[in-house]
Amino acid sequence: MKSFKNIGVIGAGSMGIGIAQVASTADCNIFLFDQNKSVSEQAIKKLEKVLVRLIEKGKLNIVEKNSILKNITIVDSLESMKDSDLIIEAIVENSTIKKELFSNMETIVSNDCILATNTSSISITSLASSLKNPTRFIGIHFFNPAPIMPLVEIIPALQTKNYLVKEVHQLLINWNKKPVVAKDTPGFIVNRIARPFYSEALRIYEEQIADFATIDFAMKHIGGFKMGPFELMDFIGNDVNYAVTESVFKAFYYDPRYKPSFTQKKYADAGWHGRKSNKGYYDYTDGIELDLPSKEEKLLVEIFERILVMLINEAMDALYLGIASEEDIELAMIRGVNYPKGLINWGKEKSFSWVVSKIDALYEIYHEDRYRCSPLLRIKASL
Ligand code: NAI
Repeated sequence: MKSFKNIGVIGAGSMGIGIAQVASTADCNIFLFDQNKSVSEQAIKKLEKVLVRLIEKGKLNIVEKNSILKNITIVDSLESMKDSDLIIEAIVENSTIKKELFSNMETIVSNDCILATNTSSISITSLASSLKNPTRFIGIHFFNPAPIMPLVEIIPALQTKNYLVKEVHQLLINWNKKPVVAKDTPGFIVNRIARPFYSEALRIYEEQIADFATIDFAMKHIGGFKMGPFELMDFIGNDVNYAVTESVFKAFYYDPRYKPSFTQKKYADAGWHGRKSNKGYYDYTDGIELDLPSKEEKLLVEIFERILVMLINEAMDALYLGIASEEDIELAMIRGVNYPKGLINWGKEKSFSWVVSKIDALYEIYHEDRYRCSPLLRIKASL
């Protein structure tokens, strides 16, 4: 197994500094580079505050804090990363800029240095193609905030050498993470399977079946989700969530199943991004009264079941298409987005034939391709 001691992290935004913290906590030496040095300096100051809070909570001691900070060196140039065993890129989500960076890095680092991207939406295979040696390229997709979210998706490019997946898997276990392996397809595992959580909720709202508060309440009260779809979109940011939805939709050659919502686009256009702008689906101004949900049990169950069956369908289709193993699909949704249960298991519990009948009933009403059952779901339902 390759040893990964020296890690170069490029981009010191929310993801870059989070990844640096994870690797540094595991006692690696981190070289942190951002095109804007003051971003790196600010990020380290913020990290120090986070670590002090962890000490106050009794989760860290002073020696550990000092060692985490000491392990991270801010560097002025990419050349200073030449001794890295692994480079993780977390810069702006732009394919051309990322490709340029990687072909530059290839001329700086040694031949056996692994090059990885934290991209959420760009094809790993297409980024690998910018390299002379694409076999050493891989996707390592952390979730935000990286030090807290245990899940990491490993995404080999078509060109990636086989044993690299195993090496990165072991490395992430050493870094105290829960790695899963995903095929290089739009949204990988989590951002693909989670789409209906938002899109079906938006659709239910657009059809005037229920308001935001009621839909959120249904998912929490009946489904046991920690946050409802609208609360979660407000937390992620409507601009960010809309951009992911749009990019997944385009990447799937406009498959109607992933169609974005006008409502979300309007909210994003208005600058109603959610918590960060103090207004999204909800108003976060201090003292404003919260909207009260309907408590009508029949309506709540109807909302929850409609969203749930669409999620189960998506998970089963990902399994059908070999996006990941059943175990990794389940783990990804529980550890990446805090779902209360694995979706495939949920489907088994409710029975696959019940899921199929629910989706077929939606298809009967709408006659839209959006409500098509995964072939695997239909096969399982017939057993
Ligand atoms: P961010 O905007 O917070 O940080 C990006 C940083 O990269 C900025 O500090 C910028 O100065 C720097 N940068 C831009 N171009 C650069 C270049 N050519 N060389 C060096 N530094 C450069 O972005 P964030 O949210 O940290 O995202 C980074 C990457 O991680 C993106 O690819 C994003 O898709 C991915 N990602 C983001 C998640 C999120 O929730 N924010 C979750 C998982 C992945």
